[in-house]
Amino acid sequence: MTQQPFYITTAISYPNGRPHIGHAYEAIATDAIARFQRMMGRDVFFMTGTDVHGLKMAQTARDRDVTPGALANEMSSYFKEMDDVLNISYDRFIQTSEPDHHAASQAIWKALEANGDLYLDRYEGWYSVRDEAFYDEKELVEGDGGEKLSPQGTPVTWTAEESWFFRLSKYQEPLLKHYAANPDFIRPESRRNEVLRFVEGGLSDLSVSRTSFDWGVKVPDSEGHVMYVWLDALTNYLTGVGYPGDTAEFRKYWPADYHIIGKDIVRFHAVYWPAFLMSANIALPKQVFGHGFLLNRGEKMSKSLGNVVDPTEYADRFGVDQLRYFLLSEVTFGNDGSYSEEAIVTRCNADLANSFGNLAQRTLSFIAKNCEGKLAADGFEPTQDDLDLYHLVHRACAEFERHMGQLEISAAIESWMRAVFACNQYIDAQAPWTLRKTDPARMVAVLAVLYEAIGNVAIAIQPIIPAATAKLLDQMGVPDDARTYAVIRERAWYRALAASGFTLAPPSPIFPRLELPAGE
Ligand code: MF3
Repeated sequence: MTQQPFYITTAISYPNGRPHIGHAYEAIATDAIARFQRMMGRDVFFMTGTDVHGLKMAQTARDRDVTPGALANEMSSYFKEMDDVLNISYDRFIQTSEPDHHAASQAIWKALEANGDLYLDRYEGWYSVRDEAFYDEKELVEGDGGEKLSPQGTPVTWTAEESWFFRLSKYQEPLLKHYAANPDFIRPESRRNEVLRFVEGGLSDLSVSRTSFDWGVKVPDSEGHVMYVWLDALTNYLTGVGYPGDTAEFRKYWPADYHIIGKDIVRFHAVYWPAFLMSANIALPKQVFGHGFLLNRGEKMSKSLGNVVDPTEYADRFGVDQLRYFLLSEVTFGNDGSYSEEAIVTRCNADLANSFGNLAQRTLSFIAKNCEGKLAADGFEPTQDDLDLYHLVHRACAEFERHMGQLEISAAIESWMRAVFACNQYIDAQAPWTLRKTDPARMVAVLAVLYEAIGNVAIAIQPIIPAATAKLLDQMGVPDDARTYAVIRERAWYRALAASGFTLAPPSPIFPRLELPAGE
């Protein structure tokens, strides 16, 4: 069977500082989707990395008295380390200073030029270094001290220099047509509406090169010009799959299925990027998804509030899967969400330690203790309660699948929790500890039903909490190749495992109860 390719990307981050929880959130959400699609049998390519060029990096390096290249290397290593700690299953971590990325960026430049979409002129206008973005005068807002700010609230400076321009204005109509023909191109709906309003308002041509500094990709045959950082950065999505050249890899993975990005950079991905691609005669990505921001107890994170959280420290403290689970279940994907240490502890204890972890632990240790770790073959006649549980678990796993396929991650987790609740209700109602004395044959049947149900809920939730489920499924003897949604549907693994004579060892718990540090 040939696997259908699936290409997903995160935004690539400016490594002008260490990664924060917002970076972790995007990586975790994208990873959950990538893992889910792998489990669905897709041939997944997952791309992430760092965006190292531009004025912001050059200025930060100057302030720290290091070269931009040294800053990029040092800081990129923290991003990569964060991804590795969080179990992010990327296929490539790009750093835009890599030679193949320079080649790809110059190739797309030449394609824009060949299409007649570049011309040399003089740029005069406002630029935000923090956003690496040009803004029209009419978009600016006034700060508390009367100073001009970008619509994102960042400082802007007046810039005047010779620059190459891209004929963005030419793409207003083609873009509007594309949005109309592809209602899912931009999600969620609120982001799509913002983009439509922006494009309907008219597009000015875009300055795509800089001459006042040289930290970037050189413009081909144009001494003194480096490419605008966003043009090079966006091109990373092509570099990763083998552009330029008609490579097998490129044909296989492009166009991307999803660009997962923050809501503040939708304009770059849903307006500039598709316009560049149309000009270069390259197919457009299928969907741009702008997720929301994480707020610390409802407040934006900022250095002055002292609430910038190091995600690897949280992972150390609460556990990697606990942090993943919390962020993905607490925040509706696409909306802003709030986090706090109390909220992490409360949710992880309720769902993971008390519900899922405890269900697995009490069932498995009961089997290890009372059945010498042997699993019953399921030759018994199921009762209505048994059948109800099977069906509920299967339905919940199917709902999980459907929601994940739509990027409704928190709704997927809610469906899964319903299955976990049902298993807990079943074990309490059936009370195998009582059956042990009154009806040992029925006890064995109940344990078989539970074992299969627990295995299935563990299989289903792997994309969200991969390490804990791997540990549990290993203990349970569920073979690697059985850990898919198709196998849950076919009810294939349990019977084979029981027949194989597998013996369950006394289990070790997967989710300890978390406590808040003293004094908090
Ligand atoms: N570095 C940009 C930011 O952090 C994101 C670039 S995403 C890209 O806002 F695809 F364009 F590279």
